[in-house]
Amino acid sequence: MKWEECKDYGALSRRAAEILLAAIRDDPRMVLGLPTGRTPVGMYERVIAECSRQYHCFRDVTTFNLDEYAGIPRDDPGSYFTYMKHHLFDHVDLGPENAHIPHGDAPDLDAECVRYEREIADAGSLGLTFLGLGQNGHIGFNEPGTPFDSRTRVVELSHSTRVANADLFADRKVPSHAITIGIGTILESKRIVLLASGESKREAIARLKSGDIDESFPASALWKHADCLVLSA
Ligand code: GLP
Repeated sequence: MKWEECKDYGALSRRAAEILLAAIRDDPRMVLGLPTGRTPVGMYERVIAECSRQYHCFRDVTTFNLDEYAGIPRDDPGSYFTYMKHHLFDHVDLGPENAHIPHGDAPDLDAECVRYEREIADAGSLGLTFLGLGQNGHIGFNEPGTPFDSRTRVVELSHSTRVANADLFADRKVPSHAITIGIGTILESKRIVLLASGESKREAIARLKSGDIDESFPASALWKHADCLVLSA
């Protein structure tokens, strides 16, 4: 695992955007794994700014989001689909058919998970995946206790995760369940970049740095990956 300590959130966002843009410049058919949450907002802003100056930044790129809430429609203001439209998709030339997010409102959620996992495999698996970090060490929505070989599935969100994300819902009512790609799915990505910023992530970053690999702390699975960079600020 490689570590880069950025001087502040702006520097972290610039560095993350630079890595993303270099990856799609080197391979215009890159398959990206993309996170939501507050942390990657600055990265997306910089990516959009840069892509408005270049033609066809995302024309041949494929993206897979890590997760989506279950039981809410795609156009719900709190959905990750809405988040991605707002923070990236509406501003770059990524074809809607190439932008994948689990359907949290699918009639059969288990079948949707199987379909999503197959779509990732059909795309040749994830090439470069960006991750945020939950205060309890979750990655995607893989909560503590998740087996490291887990695949895309429906999960129940922990109380602490629902409290942490309550601000992102107008009525503060966070859905109880979500679809997330698994830790096994994440570990098959060729490269991984984890982003963590701010006081609320200090403890989780310290625990990750300790090097203890344990399923009670999902992000520690990243120690098993050969090409993982942690950007913290
Ligand atoms: C949510 C997302 C995660 C994200 C985490 C951290 O729970 N499902 O993928 O990494 O929040 O979010 P934030 O960046 O807002 O702290």
